[in-house]
Amino acid sequence: MTGISMKRLEGKSALITGSARGIGRAFAEAYVREGARVAIADINIERARQTAGEIGAAAYAVQMDVTSQQSIDDAVGACVAEAGGIDILVNNAALFDLAPIVEISRDSYDRLFSINVAGTLFTMQAVAKQMIAQGRGGKIINMASQAGRRGEALVAVYCATKAAVISLTQSAGLNLIKHRINVNAIAPGVVDGEHWDGVDALFARYENRPLGEKKRLVGQEVPFGRMGTADDLTGMAIFLASPESDYVVAQTYNVDGGNWMS
Ligand SMILES: NC(=O)c1ccc[n+]([C@@H]2O[C@H](COP(=O)([O-])OP(=O)(O)OC[C@H]3O[C@@H](n4cnc5c(N)ncnc54)[C@H](O)[C@@H]3O)[C@@H](O)[C@H]2O)c1
Repeated sequence: MTGISMKRLEGKSALITGSARGIGRAFAEAYVREGARVAIADINIERARQTAGEIGAAAYAVQMDVTSQQSIDDAVGACVAEAGGIDILVNNAALFDLAPIVEISRDSYDRLFSINVAGTLFTMQAVAKQMIAQGRGGKIINMASQAGRRGEALVAVYCATKAAVISLTQSAGLNLIKHRINVNAIAPGVVDGEHWDGVDALFARYENRPLGEKKRLVGQEVPFGRMGTADDLTGMAIFLASPESDYVVAQTYNVDGGNWMS
């Protein structure tokens, strides 16, 4: 074993959008454990600084709003300055909303598409340019969702954004593999955390339920027997960032306890 590192992301530089909390934070912790330096890039810079401080010296906070091209370019520049380049991008920042079709507002539609779809595409583009210039390939992981696999009565816009993420992953995966940049996606099911506390509160309002009930019901329906945790997703996130996935191109993997098969 002498001289052989057991860490799968040793020396790699990762940028994870929306990683001040939730799934992105769990990915940042996992990547640091595997030897990477990780940019905790978030619109909430105070929380990003706190998270980076808690993770340790291999993590650093970067101010980033994925709806602004200037902010995307600045964040890429910050990673290059801090870590010498970018080897791994996780497009994780996203917003959720819920409404019946007849109540969907233009504002909600614009915000969700701007963060979940345009944010994913133009961050992917900026980082791909950087990776091509570096000439050593790279790994891009987009966060899709089971919501992108089929529509849901009250979740039309979010479902449509995540279907778009799956489609962008396919096209970008096919276009960028010649540069040895792998683009793939993860489709989680229902993952407990602050995000789902907000989802639960919205269902409570629209389905007239007590707080916490929707969460309990969706957890019961998962074939595995419970909601997911952010840590349930880190194995796939490490695999898709590591050389083990070099021949995996343009795919979206469900990691959802059996909720969906496709
Ligand atoms: N939690 C789930 O059940 C679940 C299920 C399927 C898919 N997902 C997807 O996984 C990803 C992470 O989900 P989560 O549960 O950790 O979400 P979360 O809401 O807990 O975290 C999202 C993070 O993104 C940041 N953010 C919001 N707008 C931003 C912007 N414009 N620019 C940069 N950062 C911004 C927020 O500050 C926050 O830190 C998302 O893409 C989500 O759609 C989550």
